[in-house]
Amino acid sequence: MPLFKATPGRRELIYDIYTRDMSIEPLPKYKLPCHESLPQTVCNLIRDELMLDGNSRQNLATFCTTFVSSEARALMADCIDKNMIDKDEYPQTAEIERRCVHILADLWNAPKAKTAIGCSTTGSSEAAMLGGLALKWKWRKRREALGQPTDRPNIVCGPVQVCWHKFARYFDVELRELPILDGNLCMTPEQVEEAVDENTIGVVATLGVTFTCVYEPVAGIAAVLDSIAEDTGLDIPIHVDAASGGFVAPFLHPDVLWDFRLPRVKSINTSGHKYGLSPLGVGWVVWRETEDLPKDLIFNVDYLGGQIPTFALNFSRPAGEIVAQYYELMRLGRSGFTNVQKSCARTAMYLAQELEKSGRFDIQYDGEGGLPAVCYSLKDEAKLNYTLYDVSERIRTWGWQIASYPLPANRQEKVVQRVLVRHGMGRDLMTLFVEDLGRVMRFLDRNPAGNPEAGPNFNHGR
Ligand SMILES: Cc1ncc(COP(=O)(O)O)c(C=O)c1O
Repeated sequence: MPLFKATPGRRELIYDIYTRDMSIEPLPKYKLPCHESLPQTVCNLIRDELMLDGNSRQNLATFCTTFVSSEARALMADCIDKNMIDKDEYPQTAEIERRCVHILADLWNAPKAKTAIGCSTTGSSEAAMLGGLALKWKWRKRREALGQPTDRPNIVCGPVQVCWHKFARYFDVELRELPILDGNLCMTPEQVEEAVDENTIGVVATLGVTFTCVYEPVAGIAAVLDSIAEDTGLDIPIHVDAASGGFVAPFLHPDVLWDFRLPRVKSINTSGHKYGLSPLGVGWVVWRETEDLPKDLIFNVDYLGGQIPTFALNFSRPAGEIVAQYYELMRLGRSGFTNVQKSCARTAMYLAQELEKSGRFDIQYDGEGGLPAVCYSLKDEAKLNYTLYDVSERIRTWGWQIASYPLPANRQEKVVQRVLVRHGMGRDLMTLFVEDLGRVMRFLDRNPAGNPEAGPNFNHGR
């Protein structure tokens, strides 16, 4: 006589989660399972797999938000069933998106921020495509009006993130990516002056170069383009890729001229999900004035009983990231953002000082004047039997991820490591990271063979 009698359905309730049907075999990888399973079991199994991803907060290689407050999570959950593109159906979400655009336009000193035109995107990559397309359309219109050929557009930039390589390839534009000259960490205005011509649709200046974290000299670039315009009549616009810097410079470096205060800056993109502190999935692009976004790029879509003007590569998208962006803007305000970015920058400078003190590193960028980040190389690398790639690999034992990669052309011989300090990486955690890094260096000193397999772990998609 069994002590307890299992009734139908009761089995599922009383059995331990790891003894249920789906738990006793690996999850199917190539085919749909034949039958349904209990939600709790499947969710648990998938969560177990996700555990292997590691801890995002220790990922010092990413620019993206990894610290998400419970309030932002709650707002995201409230919006999980809302499609931001249904502006007629969710007018308040559309209104919140509009408010974010105007707040950013104001933060970036647009002349008419209240009527500025812009939109949310999935991130800076989509925003860059839209900014680039607007440049190409405007350039073509100008050339056609003058009866000049429009078959060889080019775009001039310094060392850019891969999204600009994509833009150039997908939209048939020559990418004139200027090399980094010796002693520099980004392009110079003089290089730009030499590279532009009548087929240049625009110059992309990066505020927070992906590889070195410094700001490109937007004001200097604008000045050389102004004098070209004066001398030759060629009027070449600037798009600023402020993927990270768009949410840093206004708070940490208000005197740096990089935004719409420069009349030549016609559009700016940023990633809300980087230093904008929003969870993953939101970017922004804003044009200086309505005329800077060609009308024929805007689609008026009939949707759910309304007419919606859209300029985007995507259609359906979740609303939560946009709402969470608005929440962060409202919660922190100017002083809150300034405090957050200041504390990140202080932590970055502390790291740079500790690295310098160790005597083992050459600091390329010390966290001051650009993004809250540090970029460094190994001192006397040739005398060591290990590389920064080995350091990256070894420090993963403690859960940290650090990007190691060669600098872009012409400085590829220099291998660097980059640590991005984001909201959520406080001084205490940074001291623990410094201790772990010291431990790794001592380990590699004692075991200098290194790993011949180790190589760049962050190639920015090139
Ligand atoms: C300068 C720059 N532009 C664009 C991007 C792409 O941004 P997203 O990941 O938001 O598409 C990045 C990402 O690191 C970046 O650093």
